Amino acid sequence: MQGISDRVHLTYLIDRSTPSDDELHPGSDVVLGLSQTPKTLPPRYFYDDRGSQLFEQITELPEYYLTRTETAILKSCAPEIAQITGDCELIELGSGNSTKTRLLLDAYRSAGFPLVYCPIDISAGILESSAHSLLQDYPELEVYGLVGTYELALEKLPKTHLPSRMIGFIGSTLGNLNPEECDLFLDRITHALKSKEYFLLGIDLHKSTEQLEAAYNDRQGITAEFNLNMLRHLNQRFQGDFDLTQFQHIAIYNETNRQIEMHLRSLRSQIIHLQALNLTVEFAQGETILSEISRKFDLDQMKKLLTEKQLPCIQVWTDSSAAFAVLLCQRA
Ligand code: AVI
Repeated sequence: MQGISDRVHLTYLIDRSTPSDDELHPGSDVVLGLSQTPKTLPPRYFYDDRGSQLFEQITELPEYYLTRTETAILKSCAPEIAQITGDCELIELGSGNSTKTRLLLDAYRSAGFPLVYCPIDISAGILESSAHSLLQDYPELEVYGLVGTYELALEKLPKTHLPSRMIGFIGSTLGNLNPEECDLFLDRITHALKSKEYFLLGIDLHKSTEQLEAAYNDRQGITAEFNLNMLRHLNQRFQGDFDLTQFQHIAIYNETNRQIEMHLRSLRSQIIHLQALNLTVEFAQGETILSEISRKFDLDQMKKLLTEKQLPCIQVWTDSSAAFAVLLCQRA
């Protein structure tokens, strides 16, 4: 039996010696977002260490049904997925949630298939630590991790080790992309897969405003803390002076666009400085920053879109109240 280090192979798609665009122009997206009307901030600034911890807590909240429901669906459908795809490499966008990855690996293992897992993550540290714990528990597993953005990785997937491949994009992260970004993302998936290969997608579905707003306005205030933490992160990263007590978390469901919209609302008129970005921003009382959208999909519309993208859906699983769906698609 090979040791753990022999079974993990990392490929860097980003050159560690060449600074990325982000390193060359740090915070250019913050400057752009805060200079617009209405103001916006990119959701990626949620996820510093504290933000990632808070997101983990969100996934366990009683009101936040998404993670729990998707996990339950995957638990029951994973054996079927393995039967449909057969011998298949699992490529995962993001290497975060190993609970769900494990459900899939367990199913492939029980079916007697070899285990090849290709996580894709911008952070080599996160990739290595999540790969390490999987490799400990699955002695037959080989990990081929890609360090880079999803865009780069989808252009440069490693050569196939097994007869087929399945790209997994679970957790309803697709919902955090606007329609244009979603379109582009699906085009990239289509382009990355060969005919007959698979795409596994988890999406949150449209439902009552009451249930949706409760999921993003939990009673313990963890989502509010998660939203406000973005300002703390910006303070720390760009020498800012956002006063967190002077902003309020808001999450409302826009029924027309079928999306939760998370905002940070300024409780008074105020001026903020982000010294490292040489930026001064004025806020009127009540003015908001849009920090995230979370789209809630209609299953039939999503199936239609996937078919248009040459990714027809061959099987769908939902929970008993049709809150969430897992779709298995096969590249035409
Ligand atoms: C990561 N993403 C799918 C979450 C969502 O529900 O859109 C992010 C989140 N924002 C607030 N709560 C959870």
